[in-house]
Amino acid sequence: MKKLLIGLACAALVACSGHKVSSPDGTLTLDFQLRNGQPSYSVACNGKDVLMPSPLGLVLTIGEDTLRDVRWSVESAEYASADDTWETVWGEERFIRDRHNEMKISLAAKAMRMNIVFRVFNDGFAFRYEFPEQELRDLTVLDEQTAYVFAEEPQIWAIPWRTEYYEGIYTKAPLHEKDTMCSPLTLEMADGMYAFLHEANVTDYPCQNLYTQSANTLGTYLTPWMRDGKVLEDKAYLDAPFVTPWRFMILTHTLPEMMASRIMLNLNEPCRIEDTSWIKPMKFLGIWWSMHLHEWTWSQGNRHGATTANMRRYLKFASENGFGGVLAEGWNTGWEGYEGINNDRFSFVTPYPDYDVDALSRYAKELGVNIICHHETSGRADEYEADLDTAYQFMQHHGMPAVKTGYVCPLIRTRDGYQFNRSQGVVQHYRKVIETAAKYHICIDNHEPAMPSGLQRTYPNLMTQEGIRGQEWNAWAQDGGSPCAHVCTLPFTRMMAGPADYTPGVFAFENPIIPGTRVHSTLCNQLALFVVLYSPLQMACDKIENYAKRPAEFQFIRDVPCDWNQSRLLDGKIGQYVVMARQDRQSDNWYIGAVTNEEAREINIPLDFLGEGEWQATIYADAADADWQTNPYASSIETRQMSADDTLKIRLATGGGCAIRFAKQ
Ligand code: NOJ
Ligand code: CA
Repeated sequence: MKKLLIGLACAALVACSGHKVSSPDGTLTLDFQLRNGQPSYSVACNGKDVLMPSPLGLVLTIGEDTLRDVRWSVESAEYASADDTWETVWGEERFIRDRHNEMKISLAAKAMRMNIVFRVFNDGFAFRYEFPEQELRDLTVLDEQTAYVFAEEPQIWAIPWRTEYYEGIYTKAPLHEKDTMCSPLTLEMADGMYAFLHEANVTDYPCQNLYTQSANTLGTYLTPWMRDGKVLEDKAYLDAPFVTPWRFMILTHTLPEMMASRIMLNLNEPCRIEDTSWIKPMKFLGIWWSMHLHEWTWSQGNRHGATTANMRRYLKFASENGFGGVLAEGWNTGWEGYEGINNDRFSFVTPYPDYDVDALSRYAKELGVNIICHHETSGRADEYEADLDTAYQFMQHHGMPAVKTGYVCPLIRTRDGYQFNRSQGVVQHYRKVIETAAKYHICIDNHEPAMPSGLQRTYPNLMTQEGIRGQEWNAWAQDGGSPCAHVCTLPFTRMMAGPADYTPGVFAFENPIIPGTRVHSTLCNQLALFVVLYSPLQMACDKIENYAKRPAEFQFIRDVPCDWNQSRLLDGKIGQYVVMARQDRQSDNWYIGAVTNEEAREINIPLDFLGEGEWQATIYADAADADWQTNPYASSIETRQMSADDTLKIRLATGGGCAIRFAKQ
């Protein structure tokens, strides 16, 4: 087989002739260079190098041909600028501004053409490879040579690339101590800047991973295809024309600026769903936590959770407390032997005999509450694809507007055999699910996903995803549950890639079934998570009995919205503490969520973000003697009149939190 190698490591010491593009405010500059036919780029901020010349390129095979050491020449460089503001269907922010300068470098090598398109924003940069229409069929991407050569070694927050379902704890180490990591990466730069490195619009391509190539260099490792249980060199199978996902880096001087960056969404395509009126953010409850506590079962038996009687109780409680939906897991046949791999084929249209889907649908409609359907596939994407239309017709018929999908299996079975869940084949599957669901007006909460990359701009029915070490680990993890620091790391790492179905809101922390495992949190910390960890489908995950026992604290969960007009990080340090403020999209009201790690602390928060007028603040705070281990439920609820001139002192216990609602007077 002939191979075509495009792009090789760049060993440049001196920048050569170049093409340059700067951010609209002039602070960031990106230089493109071509040396011996090999493309590279470098980036500077206020004239100071951030990235030294860093290689670009793909390694390809085309049909049966092998071509090596292709030397590109620049055909043209085109420049463009954009300054648009667009409205989100739902989100952390209602209006998003996309302001950037673009440089498109068109390259040619004999008859082959490739463009590299760069965009530079005030808060970062992005690029992607484009293969325009040309006679290129049966092309295989073997490797991507995109690299990031840092001027100085950064510290990196990341999880290892083989972390199952991305459900890991992000840890920090200098670049040279890291190995291969899942995208995204959060970087603390040597000069105090912050960076966030990820990809946008992963549509028909494998997800990227990043690895330590040398002390100062990150390389790209694309998720490979597998065949017959063996990992192949092949990464993507494509025909021209095609574009790769965008590779982007947010670069800012402060964490609030990093968190405010919307580069990832701006790099995705505008909404393709014309009428989006059926896509509605909502909070929901569920027949769920009890299964993770091993009190109820998904499968049938005397501890079956999703029974008609239980679901009626949940629906009633949801309607009395203003929830939009109730999830029922274990409603359908196929759960016998779940997690033993040998469970039966799931049916997505056959309820267990003790779950009366028709009667429950009628009851839910009467109450004005939605039933959220559940489709666990045990990683059998091939079966699910075959069943998609009938499954979604069944949901539509029963008035269910959203589905939680799941793929519990270390490898996903596709029509091309078992594959990694972030490989091109599985990315194609998830995309098919989103598009088919859109046809039936169904919203998605996808568990065990490929890492989010902002596709919700194009398909806002893709509302939330897992790909995070969520609350469920606090029920059964052998390590005893996630450390308090975990929720102080997530907003700066995984959550930057998009909404997550973390499932906050546990109100009873001991788990009698698995001794030693528990939620590392105070009660107010759980409340604060509704603001700190964004999800437009936001689950309050505990059993309704536990909410009924603490109506005063539960009031915050009843009140807090899950769709925002604007969002701001007021204060925080990665892995230490987070103070997040968000303004409701349906009213003027603001909400604050603050959480801390194992360290108790006091934080002063100027309220200048509130704007004009008087505000009634309802403050849910850890009591003075609260402590996540010894006294987690001790809290105080206080109401105060406040204005933008005030500064609020927030006191957080160890593993603690504070949740505040500001109602405009
Ligand atoms: C794993 C999901 O993350 C969890 O939420 C769900 O309950 C189980 N799979 C069963 O589908
Ligand atoms: Ca999971």
